[in-house]
Amino acid sequence: MSFPDDRPRRLRRTPALRRLVAETRVAPSELVLPLFLKEGLTEPRPLGSMPGIVQHTRESLRKAAHEAVEAGVGGLMLYGVPDTANKDETGSAGLDPDGILNVGLRDLMAEVGDSTVVMGDLCLDEFTSHGHCGVLASDGSVDNDATLAIYAEMAVAQADTGAHMVGTSGMMDGQVGVVRHALDKAGYQDVSILAYSAKYAGAFYGPFREAVESSLQGDRRQYQQDPPNLIEALREVDLDVAEGADIVMVKPALPYLDVIAAVRDRVTVPVAAYQVSGEYAMVEAAAANGWIDRERAMLESLTSIKRAGAQIILTYWATEAAQLLR
Ligand code: PBG
Repeated sequence: MSFPDDRPRRLRRTPALRRLVAETRVAPSELVLPLFLKEGLTEPRPLGSMPGIVQHTRESLRKAAHEAVEAGVGGLMLYGVPDTANKDETGSAGLDPDGILNVGLRDLMAEVGDSTVVMGDLCLDEFTSHGHCGVLASDGSVDNDATLAIYAEMAVAQADTGAHMVGTSGMMDGQVGVVRHALDKAGYQDVSILAYSAKYAGAFYGPFREAVESSLQGDRRQYQQDPPNLIEALREVDLDVAEGADIVMVKPALPYLDVIAAVRDRVTVPVAAYQVSGEYAMVEAAAANGWIDRERAMLESLTSIKRAGAQIILTYWATEAAQLLR
């Protein structure tokens, strides 16, 4: 009988040994908290499909922002949810300086400002009556170039609030270049772009659509990426970097760890990943049933996303995870 000469188990024996040799650590400063601000709300409204997450009032948004900053969270990504009466064909409430998203960005800047990174979602889907990320052509398809002109204005309106960063999440071709150009032309050379470069048209956004009260019928397969494709993600990332993306992002995260790793190998800008609503909901639902250890699953999934190559992670657990990690 022969015994092993090499014993990797030696380094796993105690928590201190394991901590010493850990290859991956998630820091609170690498986490970004997505937040939903709902127009006209008087009390925060819990979301059935995202236990623990709410649509915020202006007041509760400020509180949540402070809590996140105190926990050491690295950034805040704001989504505005307009009153249904304020949705229209072109999503004009998204551009309105007094629209809910821009109001919220101003609130966040006034409240936490430069102690964190304030980001606005740059997309029309929350604001359009049809729920698509862009405006529709006469045949009902999403009109790429007409949408770009609107994104350009929307970017400047967000920059006007003082926000540090805009998140181009609509998956229109050329969106990063058009937004960069518009920001520069308006004197906002220092407002940065988080590009949702490889955003897949998958099943994991379900709970988010409840969170933003999406009006979408059908799907986004004509503009978001098809789940089987990885090489195409690199093409998208190359384009976004060439157009001026400051950070590129892969979304969702856990089902696309291979894409995160490939993107990490390819670019020299920071790589982010979005642990989306469906990923959050799966763990929360299993934990609520006693089928999974919630905290461990949370931290393990974040560690996996980091290990794959994302140095920034958007996650609904940002504040809690940051508190646990400190
Ligand atoms: C679109 C947008 C979506 C998400 C963020 N921005 C949804 C979609 O494409 O339908 C999803 C985030 C999540 O599921 O957590 N602006």
